[in-house]
Amino acid sequence: MFGKRGKDGFGNAGDTIDRTPPLAPELEPESKSAETGSSAAEELLVTGNTPIAPGADRPEQKRRSSKKSDGYYTTKSQVFSALIDTIDLSQLSKLDNESAREEIRDIVNDIITIKNFAMSISEQEELLEDICNDVLGYGPLEPLLARDEIADIMINGAGHSYIEVNGKVEESDIRFRDESQLLSICQRIVSQVGRRVDESSPICDARLPDGSRVNVIAPPLAIDGTTLTIRKFKKDKLTLDQLVNYGSITPAGATILQIIGRVRCNVVISGGTGSGKTTLLNCLTRYIDETERIITCEDSAELQLQQPHVVRLETRPPNIEGEGEVTMRDLVKNCLRMRPERIIVGEVRGPEVFDLLQAMNTGHDGSMGTIHSNSPRECLSRIESMIAMGGYSLPAKTVREIISGSVDIIVQAARLRDGSRRITHITEVTGMEGDVIITQDLMTFDLEGEDANGNILGQHCSTGIGRPQFWERARYFSEENRLAEAIDSMERSTA
Ligand SMILES: Nc1ncnc2c1ncn2[C@@H]1O[C@H](COP(=O)(O)OP(=O)(O)OP(=O)(O)O)[C@@H](O)[C@H]1O
Ligand SMILES: [Mg+2]
Repeated sequence: MFGKRGKDGFGNAGDTIDRTPPLAPELEPESKSAETGSSAAEELLVTGNTPIAPGADRPEQKRRSSKKSDGYYTTKSQVFSALIDTIDLSQLSKLDNESAREEIRDIVNDIITIKNFAMSISEQEELLEDICNDVLGYGPLEPLLARDEIADIMINGAGHSYIEVNGKVEESDIRFRDESQLLSICQRIVSQVGRRVDESSPICDARLPDGSRVNVIAPPLAIDGTTLTIRKFKKDKLTLDQLVNYGSITPAGATILQIIGRVRCNVVISGGTGSGKTTLLNCLTRYIDETERIITCEDSAELQLQQPHVVRLETRPPNIEGEGEVTMRDLVKNCLRMRPERIIVGEVRGPEVFDLLQAMNTGHDGSMGTIHSNSPRECLSRIESMIAMGGYSLPAKTVREIISGSVDIIVQAARLRDGSRRITHITEVTGMEGDVIITQDLMTFDLEGEDANGNILGQHCSTGIGRPQFWERARYFSEENRLAEAIDSMERSTA
């Protein structure tokens, strides 16, 4: 029941490990230029053999709050055209990022002087930065990418963009020159992971070199223009301690989660869009022992495991002929032949749930995954319907028995309407009574109202369960004292 290793293999909890996250795998870009209608010069920059990775070593950029005038964009467009006429792009592509920036700055300064554009020093500085970003990086996206407090960037066509800061969505002042610039930047992003986006292949998932998750959907599917959504990768990864500081969970609740992560409970993290599921999964994986072989399966590699023995797998969409797709299910099935000790599925969305449950049930305890659902109960019924999607014609009772025999813990995350993110439930799946799966909450978040500023008030409460079902498992890993202390402390603070 508790895995196959002897006592020596358990080592220390992973909370003291401070390792650089694994690098994104080097994927060979197909370097196919899309028929974007962008200028020849931009195409060259998109697909050219440039050693300058857009977005790499991006200098910190100041936040610009002022909306730019149409005059600014007209001047920028004139300077840009003059630059493209002047600069030798093949030479530029041989320079490193810093030298290329210097080169562009020199030429742009000359153009401004020769053409006698009237602008202040700060306007000139802004223009220089914008043009460098257009040529070497991701153009108008760069200032947003440089801001670590932004969680999501949403570009709805060239003229409209939104960002999420502190859990709240606000309109941003950046805009693209036109549709073709936006699509060409999207193409630049996705070609780095060997994918393409254009009218014939208008949907694409990708990631930035820093790990940010990217989705592009282009016209004709996106009616009002190319729509780009980026879930930004936080440079300062959130840890359980930080979640405690943000009030997402109490210190005692965090300790219980640490123990759950370490003692090889099978965990499903449930939550709505952007509620913090992946963040939480990342946090839990920190407590996995260093000795374990972990295999991760994701649509777009977002997880950053700290352990040394990790194999990262990513699904692949079909190519333009509709062939070559590798689904999450294929990956999870393949994992089972890779001698995993734990399998971690970034987002469980379909029939692969059955394979994950089988893995949880057959010696890969400690496996984890996230599921989109709004409560632990709903999560269980989502699992049932995902199994049905796989075409299995098993009786409902058998399906529920498989679920209750596999999943130990459901952790529920939520984004509340004030923008804060909370862990609202730590729930155990304890077994079956008749045809029904039985669960017990160890901790819940009780809403109490809101303060004058609209911030949600509430507190994390113990439900009075003194001895969770995973107690024996905790004892096996010598964690029972810590668990007992955390449960006592949670009860004291609830009383
Ligand atoms: N407890 C928290 N407090 C503050 N910010 C958080 C918290 N948890 C996550 N975040 C931030 O919220 C954003 C969304 O988090 P995350 O990617 O984990 O959500 P998700 O539920 O996996 O989203 P999706 O459904 O899109 O996959 C990230 O920028 C993350 O840094
Ligand atoms: Mg996620």
